Amino acid sequence: MQDDEILGKAYDARLMRRLLQYLRPYWVAVSVAFVAILVGAVAALAQPYLMKVAIDQHIATRNLGGLDQLAQLYLGVLVMAFAAEYVQTWTMQLTGQRIMFDMRMAIYGHMQRLDLKYYDRNPVGRLMTRVTSDVDVMNDLFTSGVVTIFGDVFTLFGIMGVMLAMNWKLALVAFAVLPVIALITNWFRRNVRESYRVVRGWIARINAFLQENITGMSTVQLFRREALNYARFDDIDRKHRDANIDSIFYYAVFYPAIEAVSALASALIIWYGGANVMEGTLTLGALAAFLQYSQRFFRPISDMSEKFNVLQSAMASSERIFRLLDEPVSIESPATPLTPRAEGPGGHIVFDHVSFAYNETAGAEPDWVLKDVSFEVKPGERIGIVGATGSGKTTLINLLLRFYDVQKGTVRIDGVDVRRRSLDDLRQMFSLVLQDVHLFTGTIADNIRLGNAAISDAEVKQAAEAVHADAFIDRLPLGYAAPVAERGATLSVGQKQLLSFARALAFNPRVLILDEATSSVDTETELLIRDALNTLMSGRTTIAIAHRLSTIQDMDKILVLHKGVLREVGTHQELLAARGIYFKLFELQYAQRGAAVPTSQG
Ligand SMILES: Nc1ncnc2c1ncn2[C@@H]1O[C@H](COP(=O)(O)OP(=O)(O)OP(=O)(O)O)[C@@H](O)[C@H]1O
Ligand SMILES: [Mg+2]
Repeated sequence: MQDDEILGKAYDARLMRRLLQYLRPYWVAVSVAFVAILVGAVAALAQPYLMKVAIDQHIATRNLGGLDQLAQLYLGVLVMAFAAEYVQTWTMQLTGQRIMFDMRMAIYGHMQRLDLKYYDRNPVGRLMTRVTSDVDVMNDLFTSGVVTIFGDVFTLFGIMGVMLAMNWKLALVAFAVLPVIALITNWFRRNVRESYRVVRGWIARINAFLQENITGMSTVQLFRREALNYARFDDIDRKHRDANIDSIFYYAVFYPAIEAVSALASALIIWYGGANVMEGTLTLGALAAFLQYSQRFFRPISDMSEKFNVLQSAMASSERIFRLLDEPVSIESPATPLTPRAEGPGGHIVFDHVSFAYNETAGAEPDWVLKDVSFEVKPGERIGIVGATGSGKTTLINLLLRFYDVQKGTVRIDGVDVRRRSLDDLRQMFSLVLQDVHLFTGTIADNIRLGNAAISDAEVKQAAEAVHADAFIDRLPLGYAAPVAERGATLSVGQKQLLSFARALAFNPRVLILDEATSSVDTETELLIRDALNTLMSGRTTIAIAHRLSTIQDMDKILVLHKGVLREVGTHQELLAARGIYFKLFELQYAQRGAAVPTSQG
């Protein structure tokens, strides 16, 4: 059973206490709403009673003056009921909106702190549901659920009290239908609850399906999976529809049934009460009032069973939301972060017997991705990392930036374990250029600056020029103000990479990290970038991961990773002389390139 299908208890005191915390800042609005509900309920209770008084004391005694007065009073009560309803709706909706805002901010804030490991485990579609529909359900709870259930209960007991006080025997006759109501309501609640659960499960599947297939539309079209996926979606969508149709049946039975029982109660009142009137033990006005009360009696009952469902789904949603909010943040700044006492520019990196695995199942031996890796990068040094696909190169970077924590050994920067530094301080040392560049909606300049106001327009331009991104930016109709579509869909991969270079430069980092950064630009642009990088790398620690050896052969040191083990370290010349893995790699690429033989001097 999926997470989205779990329906817990309708009322869970622990969850409710926690939910009420969200109400606390708005206690004034909530108190106003409570008062308005009470006033509204009293106004509703008063109306049939005024009717009784009109009939018995004024119409029966032919007192026109009194009737006029009473009509004015009745009008006053109507205005009061209107005002109360207005105030209640307004304050509760307002509070609901504010609480939704608070919750979304809390969830998003927490999501930003959660480490990448959490995102490896949880699909995007599911997390989106937490922020969107689960929070919406909470809103229902606050606007139409809890508080009005309180109003309904108050009205119910009020009506019962008034009826019993007016004529307890007739009241009991009217209440005779209550067991039937209880049976119907119970049946409805149980079935609707079940079909609601099924519907939710199918909605979650529809979301997951769409999320995956819309993002992968080009692959779907290329491999002509349209008909196949259409059939799959047809199946999911059909089950979703059928589950909804099932629940329609229960609604279609429930409301007419309640109507019928309510009419039965009216009939009982007229039959038994009518006899009383004839006997003279009941006034005509009281009979009229009884009829009205009994009609007002059944609406809150049917409302309540509906709201019970809201309550139930809200509990399930809040459970899911709280589970996300309670997700521990394993990678965060220590309470008392250490600041390294680095002389000079800093950027001295040490990997000290580091072992790391992405998956850790308790008990089992972890799946080591890095095994006992040790190396050192001195400030200002340029390091190249090579190794086969999957050998753990990107993982080294993930550990350095503390996206994940090591299991064994330490990663130190300027003499301090990365786990003992504040994340802000740590990460602001680096600029990272990845092969897979992530761009955000906004302009070209926004994407270079990433919201950092300290970077001026001139610096943005300068950075773009330094990496030769200006050539393509200047060709755009709006230049630096040109809009970038979501995920940078309108730019080529190489252009995105140039932008990310400019971004890295604009942030002027102490350590520059390039992960397969130049693999998507043409040879000419690569040469231009390399030239720009040379000036940029001076005085800065640089770590460059590359498959093309030509890009890294003039580095100060080259690390060769093989299946998570650091096998060779040295300069290009030293490694060639050693005739090991690097030498083999070099030979392979040399043979491939044929005429374009790179000189061993770089
Ligand atoms: N988030 C993750 N969760 C689990 N395993 C992962 C994760 N990321 C990478 N791995 C695994 O770790 C190993 C090393 O991956 P890594 O990304 O470091 O390789 P790489 O050397 O950068 O390869 P490439 O040259 O293809 O970029 C691979 O076997 C990969 O399957
Ligand atoms: Mg990689």
